[in-house]
Amino acid sequence: MNYRHAYHAGNFADVVKHLALVAILLHLRKKESPFAVIDTHAGRGLYDLGGEEARKTAEARGGIERLRQLAGDSAPGRYLEIAGEGHQYPGSPVIAAKLLRPQDRLVAIEKHPEEFGALKQALAPWRKAKALEGDGYARLPGLLPPPERRGLVVIDPPFEMGDEFESLGELLRGALRRFALGIYLVWFPVKSASQAQRFCGEVLAMGVSKALRIDITIAAAEGKLAGAGLLVLNPPFGFDGEMRQALAKIAPLLDARAGVTWLAGEGR
Ligand SMILES: C[S@@+](CC[C@H](N)C(=O)[O-])C[C@H]1O[C@@H](n2cnc3c(N)ncnc32)[C@H](O)[C@@H]1O
Repeated sequence: MNYRHAYHAGNFADVVKHLALVAILLHLRKKESPFAVIDTHAGRGLYDLGGEEARKTAEARGGIERLRQLAGDSAPGRYLEIAGEGHQYPGSPVIAAKLLRPQDRLVAIEKHPEEFGALKQALAPWRKAKALEGDGYARLPGLLPPPERRGLVVIDPPFEMGDEFESLGELLRGALRRFALGIYLVWFPVKSASQAQRFCGEVLAMGVSKALRIDITIAAAEGKLAGAGLLVLNPPFGFDGEMRQALAKIAPLLDARAGVTWLAGEGR
């Protein structure tokens, strides 16, 4: 477990993932009934963009730091309100915690002991946000279905292991059996187009009726990640259009190409 998200926080891929996260949570908040968020690979929750790790890669300079000029724009608006100020960049669990209402709940799982310690501290201000130390792959099945029967599962592994796509596929197969109507936000790197396509195809074959894929690609230096994808299962109605609108605003600023494609359901 060498991966530390502090080197990548706020980069082009983080920005799109967190933009999607905020958009989904705003949809969940439209109904009064409570929802649960489960974040299987939560990270430390807050990242110091002025810290040694962030300065070393300077990835946030090609991501969140280019978007600050959009503050006040309605498309990426709420995401930028939450993430676009100051040096403390919020990761997925802190973004989710900020959007919980009193009736909602977050469970954030992190395996690395140091990252977990920081996560626990970062989530301390929110009574309905719980940090769990452990393996997200092992813990998720026991948390599904959530008693609320509504909610979002965020799955954002580090892809350090050669078989992470396989593990992710297995995790989703079991999760969908338990919580078929849940919303799933799954992040994956696109190092090989065919590998990413195969993964999405395998998930579709699990019988998912609504699936959206979001891609973002930049011209990265050799050896650096140039492409990332999000697979969103059971996305809320209207989420695709919102993401298209927001990406049309942010992609030019990131010098990126972005796409939103229905793999199953609605726009197919
Ligand atoms: C990509 S980062 C998460 C970033 C976070 N989701 C965000 O958007 O702010 C992946 C995290 O997963 C943790 N991790 C690695 N293997 C894990 C596992 N099996 N279960 C839970 N966490 C794991 C790593 O320590 C790392 O903090």
